Amino acid sequence: MFIDTHCHLTDKQFADDIELTFDYSQQVGVDKFITSGFDLPSSQKAVEFATKHNNVYATIGIYPEFADKADLQGLSSLKELAQNAKVVGIGEIGLQFTEGAPEKEVQIKAFERQIELACALKKPIVIHSRDAMGATIEVLEKNKDKLVYGGTMHCFSGSTESAMRIIKLGLYISVGGVSTFKNAISLKETLSHIPLDKMILETDCPYLTPHPYRGKRNSPAYIPTIAENLAKIKGVTVDEVAKVTYANSKKLFRLEG
Ligand code: NI
Repeated sequence: MFIDTHCHLTDKQFADDIELTFDYSQQVGVDKFITSGFDLPSSQKAVEFATKHNNVYATIGIYPEFADKADLQGLSSLKELAQNAKVVGIGEIGLQFTEGAPEKEVQIKAFERQIELACALKKPIVIHSRDAMGATIEVLEKNKDKLVYGGTMHCFSGSTESAMRIIKLGLYISVGGVSTFKNAISLKETLSHIPLDKMILETDCPYLTPHPYRGKRNSPAYIPTIAENLAKIKGVTVDEVAKVTYANSKKLFRLEG
């Protein structure tokens, strides 16, 4: 069995066939799903969706692109949403230093505020980092006393050195579709050095579809494809990948069953 620890099941790309996608994913062995918010409306939707489905959980948070919304009012809305028992983490939160993104200082402030919120709520964090891995790790290291409930580096694609610093903070490495890409040579090398008991699986669907399905919409049903690729990288069986990552995911997000 597998857990898709990071997906966007409320995305409009699933609007017409979510139940079908969901059933098919369960048929291929994905029996738990964590649907992720990235701003207040999507976090609200994620919680509603999780409430309607037994094996779906939600994470809620404000993504770097919307960092200015992580003000006192935004944080209090997140805090209120987090009272729902299906909320298992705070995220996606983090840093994205791409063109047009909010100022670095604004992003760092929003990230730190939400790390603090997660700690107060006793929940793990789900970290998004794009073109900002060094700064993201610096923020995490600076706030390491607030990481007691753990977290994961969503869609990890950094260096071995970054991975080791993340693990040292007690955080997990999330392995997604990018690890299957033909040109992901250095990522595959990095993953070969990371212990399996520090890894969890995710699709980030509908985005980042794994090879050989690139170009199609991503779905939690592709988790076994990501697991097969990881099994090859680690030189273990797919069953071993399933068993270890399932246990890791349950432990991190404190899932029952
Ligand atoms: Ni995502």
